[in-house]
Amino acid sequence: MSLEGFTVVVTGGAGFIGNEVTRQLLARGASVSVIDNFVNGKAENLADLDAQRLEVAHLDVRDLERIAPLFGSANLVLHLACLGVRHSLHAPLENHEVNATATLKLLELARTSGVKRFVYVSTSEVYGTARTAPMTEDHPTYPLTVYGASKLAGERYTAAYWQTWKYPTSVVRPFNAFGPRSHHEGDSGEVIPKFMLRGMAGMPLVIHGDGQQTRDFTFVADTARGIIEAALTDKTIGETVNLGSGREVTVLELSGLIGQVLGGRNVQVQHGPDRPGDVRRLIADSGKAKALFGFQPQVALRDGLTMLRDWYQKSGRSVEDLLRDERSVNWTAPRA
Ligand SMILES: NC(=O)c1ccc[n+]([C@@H]2O[C@H](COP(=O)([O-])OP(=O)(O)OC[C@H]3O[C@@H](n4cnc5c(N)ncnc54)[C@H](O)[C@@H]3O)[C@@H](O)[C@H]2O)c1
Repeated sequence: MSLEGFTVVVTGGAGFIGNEVTRQLLARGASVSVIDNFVNGKAENLADLDAQRLEVAHLDVRDLERIAPLFGSANLVLHLACLGVRHSLHAPLENHEVNATATLKLLELARTSGVKRFVYVSTSEVYGTARTAPMTEDHPTYPLTVYGASKLAGERYTAAYWQTWKYPTSVVRPFNAFGPRSHHEGDSGEVIPKFMLRGMAGMPLVIHGDGQQTRDFTFVADTARGIIEAALTDKTIGETVNLGSGREVTVLELSGLIGQVLGGRNVQVQHGPDRPGDVRRLIADSGKAKALFGFQPQVALRDGLTMLRDWYQKSGRSVEDLLRDERSVNWTAPRA
């Protein structure tokens, strides 16, 4: 379906998933307004994109006055801007302010500005650890971190706008995404890019805890396509949908796969401290997304890892340079 004539606001559009969403929207003919304060987003993530249909607004999602004109001309808001799980360990109040309170304010602005649809990009972290597997959207939500709790609050506000005012909203819950432009640096650093770069440099991969914790990894292009498709069908109005691959992998298995992708190298593994609030088990049932809009991930984990390796190799930056910003323990414990 062509999106010519369609104007989409993507909050967090300079981030890892947001830039891929922006890329796909532009490729389908939409005009896109990115709202990002670049706290974790990167200008280079958008630098190669067609500037004619792309507007990049360097704005904080809490700055409603300056956001209002952008919402005034939008058909659709895809709300991805957020602060992450490790940020929530050292700055829980700001985490809530951006992830939950700002979401409520953006919903109100979207409704009163006449934006036709609002899609909230939540996270599988709202579930906490799996009590039943695979996890459907009906799985209980017992988040383990302020990040998960603030995202759940954002979800409930989004759903309430549909329930109370019949304002057309949807909630999408991606499971862990990976691929090019993922974060290895600072407190945004995720396990796959950190493992990949360390493996490429011949350094040990640091596993927090025993490595038996599991995740459901989805290639970022699949996640982004799922977010867009969820927003383009009326079947998801008032609904919550998972986006995952349905494949469960332990972090230890992941370290072995990285070794295989790096030419059968026997990567060294070191065990570090457990991360506070680390979820033990996650695996998605994405049957609802498949039924409502035909969601079907295209890229297998191993192929996606290969693409990430190739992307780093072509990035023009040395692995040593990239690793300068990587921290093996990339959170700080909450202060007493
Ligand atoms: N990466 C994953 O594996 C994953 C999994 C599930 C859900 N999600 C969700 O997907 C969305 C995007 O995540 P991501 O991995 O791309 O993270 P990201 O950090 O790369 O993207 C978030 C973006 O929001 C921006 N941002 C943060 N605070 C802001 C503020 N106050 N004002 C304006 N912009 C602000 C950041 O600069 C960044 O570009 C988030 O809502 C996240 O909860 C991500």
